[in-house]
Amino acid sequence: MGQLDGKTIIITGAAQGMGAVHARRCVEEGARVVLTDLQAEAGTKLAAELGGNARFVEQDVTSESDWDAVVDEATTHFDGIDGLVNNAAIWWTKPVLEEDAANMLKMLEVNVIGTWQGVRKVAPKMAERGGGSIVNLSSIAGTRGIPEHAAYGASKWAVRGLSKVAAGELGPMGVRVNTIHPGAVEGTGMFLVPEEERAEMFATQPLPRPARRQEISGLLIFLLSDQSSYVTGHEHVIDGGRTVW
Ligand SMILES: NC(=O)c1ccc[n+]([C@@H]2O[C@H](COP(=O)([O-])OP(=O)(O)OC[C@H]3O[C@@H](n4cnc5c(N)ncnc54)[C@H](O)[C@@H]3O)[C@@H](O)[C@H]2O)c1
Repeated sequence: MGQLDGKTIIITGAAQGMGAVHARRCVEEGARVVLTDLQAEAGTKLAAELGGNARFVEQDVTSESDWDAVVDEATTHFDGIDGLVNNAAIWWTKPVLEEDAANMLKMLEVNVIGTWQGVRKVAPKMAERGGGSIVNLSSIAGTRGIPEHAAYGASKWAVRGLSKVAAGELGPMGVRVNTIHPGAVEGTGMFLVPEEERAEMFATQPLPRPARRQEISGLLIFLLSDQSSYVTGHEHVIDGGRTVW
């Protein structure tokens, strides 16, 4: 028996990186998954590979009408929505004094407004069937100040705050909202540390290596499943102990 048997889950940014691994794991755990992304070719290919329990919808998470199409696909092709993973995001590093307003707004638009649109569009559909689980991807950059992460850090702290408010307001409808805060993750588009810099980078981390993407999926599956039915409104840090110091 899978941990997500019978559940329908939407995962944004699922054409590559962690989103793609999450989609595969959710299908393996018995879920029907709607994968969304800007990258139509890669997303369509992955959904076809995952079989009849996966569908791909091209989506820009900042677009309200795109969200309507995604919700429509999940509720008509499958029979409703039980889980939402707001995973799509953009990332870059830049010293705080070198950021410009257009870039700050772009980061906030994708990472924060995109996440908020998902919560806003999906939560009422979950409530109609008695509840569901929303998981928003933040970062350890949403738990502390990391140099040169002004725009990204601001966006991931905002995702954390938004999620707390949503958990408080949506809990009475049966909708749980949690955040995942990964540290450095191996093999993703966002974080590719050159081999020669790794030892130094992880020297002071209790588990001295980056996370495997599957390790983030493991925590995600728990938060989407009924195993976490009393868990809402919290930050789930998964960073090999990086932020214990
Ligand atoms: N990789 C890391 O080390 C790390 C660490 C902490 C947190 N995170 C968070 O985990 C999540 C996944 O990270 P990743 O490294 O797998 O990312 P990635 O860059 O590999 O993939 C992100 C996906 O989002 C899609 N996307 C970007 N803008 C979009 C938009 N406007 N609409 C729809 N899709 C869009 C991209 O096409 C891409 O497929 C992100 O929220 C990221 O902030 C990553």
